[in-house]
Amino acid sequence: MKKIIKNCFSLRGRSSMGGRLVGATLVLAMMAGVITTGCAGKGTKSEEIKIGVVVYDEYDTFVSQLIDVFMEDVSEKKQEGSKITVERRGSAGSQITQNQQVDELIKAGCDVICVNLVDRTDPAMIIEAARAADVPVIFFNRELVNQDLYSWDRLYYVGADAYDSGNIEGQIAADAFRDNPSMDKNKDGKISLVVLEGEPGHQDAIIRTEYSVSTIMDSGIEVDKLESGIANWKRSEAQSKMGQMIDKYGDDIELVLANNDDMALGAIDEYESRNITFSKRPAIVGIDGTREGLAAVESGSMLGTVYNDKEGQGKAMLVLAMAVADGHDIVGDLDQYADLMDGKYIRFPYARVTRDNVSDYMQ
Ligand code: BGC
Repeated sequence: MKKIIKNCFSLRGRSSMGGRLVGATLVLAMMAGVITTGCAGKGTKSEEIKIGVVVYDEYDTFVSQLIDVFMEDVSEKKQEGSKITVERRGSAGSQITQNQQVDELIKAGCDVICVNLVDRTDPAMIIEAARAADVPVIFFNRELVNQDLYSWDRLYYVGADAYDSGNIEGQIAADAFRDNPSMDKNKDGKISLVVLEGEPGHQDAIIRTEYSVSTIMDSGIEVDKLESGIANWKRSEAQSKMGQMIDKYGDDIELVLANNDDMALGAIDEYESRNITFSKRPAIVGIDGTREGLAAVESGSMLGTVYNDKEGQGKAMLVLAMAVADGHDIVGDLDQYADLMDGKYIRFPYARVTRDNVSDYMQ
C-alpha cells in the first residue's frame, strides 16, 4: 500500500533550483479506499477541488513570490489532468477583512483554505467558521500559537524554521568578519551593528533579531549593537529607518542585519541615495532570497542572504491541500516518509546564500 501512496502524491522537499534537495521527504496520501481506485478523488479528472488562498498583504514581496510558485504548481497539476480551481484574496493587513474573506470562501464551496494570517495570535474566528463547515485549513508563513493549531484536528501549518534563518544570517556575517578584517572599520575588534526588524510580534522577526546577533557572539566575536529599528518587512520603511541610523551613527555602522531582503534592499537604497560608495558602506545581510535580494547578492551590494524555500513551501501546501480537501485525512503512518511533524507542522530548512553560490538560486 505504501508504494501506491508514493505514486499518488510524493514530494521530496525538492526545490526547482538546480534540483537541490532542500527539505525533508514529504509524502502525502489519501485513504486506502481511494488508493485502490488508482488515486481517484477530488482534484483528479473525475472531481474538482476548490482551494481558497488568503494572504495577509498581497504586496508583501516574499508572500507574493511564494504564491506565484504555488500557482505554477497548480498549473502543472492541471496539465497533468487534475481539476483544481483557486480563489485568491488579499486581506490588506486587516484581520476583520480576512475573517470575512474566509467566511465567503467557505460559503463559495472551497474544500480547503490556505490562510496567511494577518494577526497570528487571532485565528479564532477562522478556526470556528472552518470547523462549523468542516473545511480544513492550512495556515502558512505566519505561525499561529500551537494551542490554536491543536484546537481542531483539520488544521495544519506550513512554514520554515525561523531559528535556522537567524543562525545562518549570523554565520554569514561572522565568517565575513573573520575572513575580511577590513569590515572592522574602526579596528576595535568588535562588530558594530544595527538590526532592521520586521513586524512586531511576527515569529520570524522575534527569532531572527535575537539569533542573528547571538550567533555572531557565540562564534567568539564581540558585538556592539548600536540600535534595532522596526521597519515592518518594508523596503521604504527600512530606507527611512536606515537614514535615521546613518544620521546618528555614520561610519560607525559596520554591519546591517535585516530580518528580510526587502529591508536589506531599503538599507542599500539609502546608501545609494547618499552616494556612499561600496567600500564605505557596512556589510548588509538579508533573509529570503527574493529575486531582487539574489540580484543584490550577485552584484555585491548585499553580502549574503538566507534562502527561504518558497518552492518547497508552495509545493507542500498544494500537496497537503489536495490530500486534505478530499474529505480524507492524511494517513497515520505518513510520518515515516515525511516531516509532517506531529501530523500538523511542515517546516522547511533555510540555506546560506553568498556570492559563491548565488547563481544556483537564480535559475
Ligand atoms: C519573510 C518576510 C515576509 C514575512 C511575511 C517572512 O517569513 O521573510 O519577507 O514579509 O514572512 O509574513
